[in-house]
Amino acid sequence: MSKKENPEWVEDTIEKIRQKMDWVSEKNKDRIPYKTLKDGSYDDRSDSSIEWSTDDGLNWWTNGFWGGMMWLMYLDTHNERYMEIARNCEKKLETCFQGFYGLHHDVGFMFLPTAVADYKVTGNPESRKTALHAANLLAGRFNPAGRFIRAWNEVNGDDTTGWAIIDCMMNISLLYWASDETGDPRFRQIAMLHADTVREFFVRADGSVNHIVEFDPNTGEMVRSYGGQGYKEGSSWSRGQGWALYGFVNSYAHTGKTDYLDTAKQVAHYCMANIPESGHIPVDFRQPKEPAWEDSCGACVIASGLLELAKYVPELEQHFYGQAAEKILRALLKDRCDWSRDCDAMIQNCTGAYHHEESHHITMTYADFYFMEAIYKYRNAENLFW
Ligand code: GLY
Repeated sequence: MSKKENPEWVEDTIEKIRQKMDWVSEKNKDRIPYKTLKDGSYDDRSDSSIEWSTDDGLNWWTNGFWGGMMWLMYLDTHNERYMEIARNCEKKLETCFQGFYGLHHDVGFMFLPTAVADYKVTGNPESRKTALHAANLLAGRFNPAGRFIRAWNEVNGDDTTGWAIIDCMMNISLLYWASDETGDPRFRQIAMLHADTVREFFVRADGSVNHIVEFDPNTGEMVRSYGGQGYKEGSSWSRGQGWALYGFVNSYAHTGKTDYLDTAKQVAHYCMANIPESGHIPVDFRQPKEPAWEDSCGACVIASGLLELAKYVPELEQHFYGQAAEKILRALLKDRCDWSRDCDAMIQNCTGAYHHEESHHITMTYADFYFMEAIYKYRNAENLFW
């Protein structure tokens, strides 16, 4: 996928992204958005007074993606304005450390696209410190009895001490980075122990995955799985499939352990076998046919994960994964992209959770982030974030 081979649709999309992000970034330069409101404007999750809560305020788990979008734009355009806005977001997120209680395993999603990206692009020593701080918090959530990283703090009064979730496969890139950066292998060891547990207890023989697995936090034994944001226990939440696919590719890239590459392929093949003719990804690959809830965000994660996987396989297989990613991206381009000024977000029809009606067919910054990331991969952009 060298630059000269880029098809016209990719170059055309990059131009549209540039035009859209030019005004969207200025309009929202002081916010950290998550989704658009009824009038098409972005909300703002940068309220630092909600320090206990993982929802709504500054601890909201998606708060790193806005900065990540700005870094993608900076790398594309070299316009320093994008760097300033990315740094603005990073500075706000740093204050989460003071509050502490609202932080969770998603410090990976929060600080990889902000502080780690900043450090990788500019060498900013403050960003290195921030990212190492976050990595230590993530490592501190490791449960040695069950060899997993605890996901959330309390959820709606439920004790989640023994809960791990598939999404964390993306967060552990922060630990790989911390070991590379410091030379201390502890972080990588924790990441690999967690990834090995996920292979054993989350990934099913057919390549589908559990969203949530509960372990006994004292003995480490598996208690049960939950359907989480998907349709039900034993089903197959599509975005979770994406986190698994992409996360195992990352673990392979950081460690060279071929089991991780094999697992990434296993999950990828399951996803590919379940992509509907339309190319639009359902919220859960095992949901009933009706209502036909979609998750364009899951689509973006899967597409970007497939393109990442294509980097580590022989040429013939590259084509195979590349074609599947293209099918998804082109379906989004055809039907689910808003390039107008009516909406701050690009990607439409994203879904938070199957059973959470208010989160059906909304927009999400991380859909836009993974869409942009996927498109820029056609230009051979290095993996800056994961
Ligand atoms: N990490 C939660 C989600 O993907 O919605």
